Amino acid sequence: MTTAVDTSGLTITDVVVRYGGHTAVNKISLTAPTGEITGLIGPNGAGKTTTFNACSGLLRPTSGSVHLFGQEVTHMSPQRRAQHGMGRTFQRMELFDSLSVRENVALGREGGMAGSKPWRHLRASRSDSADVANAVTAALELCDITRLATRRPADLSTGQRRLVELARCIAGGFRLMLLDEPSSGLDKRETTAFGQILRSLVEGATDRPGVGILIVEHDMSLVMSVCDYIHVLDFGEPIFQGTPTEVGASEIVRAAYLGSEAVDVAVPGAPHAKAGA
Ligand SMILES: Nc1ncnc2c1ncn2[C@@H]1O[C@H](COP(=O)(O)OP(=O)(O)O)[C@@H](O)[C@H]1O
Ligand SMILES: [Mg+2]
Repeated sequence: MTTAVDTSGLTITDVVVRYGGHTAVNKISLTAPTGEITGLIGPNGAGKTTTFNACSGLLRPTSGSVHLFGQEVTHMSPQRRAQHGMGRTFQRMELFDSLSVRENVALGREGGMAGSKPWRHLRASRSDSADVANAVTAALELCDITRLATRRPADLSTGQRRLVELARCIAGGFRLMLLDEPSSGLDKRETTAFGQILRSLVEGATDRPGVGILIVEHDMSLVMSVCDYIHVLDFGEPIFQGTPTEVGASEIVRAAYLGSEAVDVAVPGAPHAKAGA
């Protein structure tokens, strides 16, 4: 038995997705290791959501492969990928307004525990219940929403709902998280706070290992401030990859975004600040 921790996270290799005769994504390769935030950006229609769905298992690539911590998952369902450590949030928020914030977050844990045996919900043991309670408490704290635990999602702001959704994913204990446009609907202050939570997630703490995050965004601002490394797509083609500073300075990237609305391609003043530093 080896004690080495597998930090390889997600690797996709030469992924091609065609819809009929239309190539939506053409030979994309990227890695999203643990301990880092990897960004995938590009103008509308670039193929971000398609790539994201190939990673999460919502669609199967026409060719190419997807590996998760060294294991091939190209043809696995999202549920099985979850059992292998992959969690995701959705662009469209899916919180249950009939449940409290705490109960919504608990679903992120219970779903993973039940896995392919949903009947486990019906006879959860006392240790399962304690596990859920601990994971939920920790996730609420990490997202700084403990004070909202008894509220209903419908009564919250968009920014607060985004944090509940993130907390639910965190409670699942995944080693690799896919985030689909997580900052949409957030104002500048909320986006900054959200970014700090993501940094602390990947950097980990004594009581929790750092996770890996792949973040898919249309808007560059969050990506530029939190990512360690960024891949840029345009018309389904990988056109550039590099650090935020390199991406910000790239004429290729600037040209791809020209004419595309509401995107700030300013060079960031500095690389991301480490959380807690
Ligand atoms: N289900 C689909 N059927 C046919 N074409 C699609 C489908 N989904 C996306 N596309 C096309 O694939 C390309 C990439 O789309 P998408 O991955 O949604 O881009 P992005 O998320 O970067 O905006 C676009 O040209 C889009 O029109
Ligand atoms: Mg999209």
